[in-house]
Amino acid sequence: METTLILIKPGGVQRNLIGEITTRIERRNLKVVGLKLVNAPRETVEAHYAEHKERPFFGSVCDYLTSGPVVALAVRGENAIKAIRAMMGATNPLDATPGTVRGDFALSIDDNLTHSSSDPEAAANELALWFPEGLVA
Ligand code: CMP
Repeated sequence: METTLILIKPGGVQRNLIGEITTRIERRNLKVVGLKLVNAPRETVEAHYAEHKERPFFGSVCDYLTSGPVVALAVRGENAIKAIRAMMGATNPLDATPGTVRGDFALSIDDNLTHSSSDPEAAANELALWFPEGLVA
């Protein structure tokens, strides 16, 4: 069993895609074990994207993630990390296959609707960052 973190970014929340994205996750038989709507503090977002600190898009992606509420989801299941990454599609929506969240609903890398943990180490760090109180299950 793996647990992974998904963020529904401000664009996804504004476009009323919380239900659509969560439904896809549940229908895949992955379990939601943490769920919150938050106005993320800048320091949380900067810590979340620390690996991208030197990249030119670091400032703009942090601005975007703090521009409105985000949904943080903790999701558990067999191979959940890889399964969720595949369901969300390629980071650049133009490369995302139809049938994925980005392939169906996004057009721009700056507004690619979701973030999901890349590997077990990232998942552990990101779950601790977004759910410091721990998970309910
Ligand atoms: P995410 O999976 O949240 O991780 C970093 C985010 O930075 C990425 O999705 C994109 O939304 C954003 N981003 C903007 N430009 C780029 C880029 N050139 N390469 C990767 N990510 C980018």
